[in-house]
Amino acid sequence: MTEVIDGNAVAQTIRDSLGGAIDTLDDAGVTPGLATVLMSDDPASETYVSMKQRDCEEVGINGIHVELDTHAPAQELYDTIDDLNADPDVNGILVQMPVVDQVDTRRVLRSVAPEKDVDGFHPENVGRMVAGNARFKPCTPHGIQKLLEHSGVETEGAEAVVVGRSDIVGKPMANLLIQKAPLGNATTTVCHSRTKDLAAHTRNADIVIAAAGVPELVDGSMLKEGATVIDVGVNRVDADTEKGYELVGDVEYESAKEVAGKITPVPGGVGPMTRAMLLWNTVKAASEQTGVAVDLD
Ligand code: GUN
Repeated sequence: MTEVIDGNAVAQTIRDSLGGAIDTLDDAGVTPGLATVLMSDDPASETYVSMKQRDCEEVGINGIHVELDTHAPAQELYDTIDDLNADPDVNGILVQMPVVDQVDTRRVLRSVAPEKDVDGFHPENVGRMVAGNARFKPCTPHGIQKLLEHSGVETEGAEAVVVGRSDIVGKPMANLLIQKAPLGNATTTVCHSRTKDLAAHTRNADIVIAAAGVPELVDGSMLKEGATVIDVGVNRVDADTEKGYELVGDVEYESAKEVAGKITPVPGGVGPMTRAMLLWNTVKAASEQTGVAVDLD
């Protein structure tokens, strides 16, 4: 029987586990603060940011949302980041990606104070993670590690294939999987749009992490019997539904489910974990910035 990994349930466990740390901070007069910044009219980004704000409210993090006009000059975003960097009530800053074209994304990533960079995207934090000394692990790969842990999937010595090489998911995921550390020690291959024979790689994998942003790229015929399949894709495809679209992953779920040992659904798999790890990083940021020690594992 294939096990469907319930990301909502694991994310709830993570949120519950933050309660003690948030209480400890509260006793010391500290309420963690997370600022989300949106400069985009992408409807999916708007949804993601509002869900992140709702999560903050649920666990007792002070959520602050800044929305900038998509036609405003880029300087407005840079100034907003400077203000949030200087605000002691803000412990974490997340600028939802992608931002509008007039903005220099690299400048945004290096403008967020590394101590408040709960995405883990600042070059200093990327460097620390690669060196095995992460300040903040990026939320999606970190969430996937937690999903694997909660589902009892052994990464040590496993053949892992990461499909996709984005800065947000593919690259950091592969990096964490190769580290000599718990939830690492996997023999890891990164496949991408120029890979000649994707199936030849995925068929050899004990763990497949599909993060290419291509609807239903990986199907059951490309998997080894019993493999663990983690689907990071959230693709809107035209469909005859009320909204005019449906969400599909990077994995063709029905055929993959026939072959996989464990599989994440879309939605309800990786997405809730990304959001839970953002809360986790925000609590860690608040603890480190205020010197109030908390228990996080
Ligand atoms: N866009 C898609 N995923 C993410 C993420 O994890 N963080 C930010 N800031 N933007 C994103």
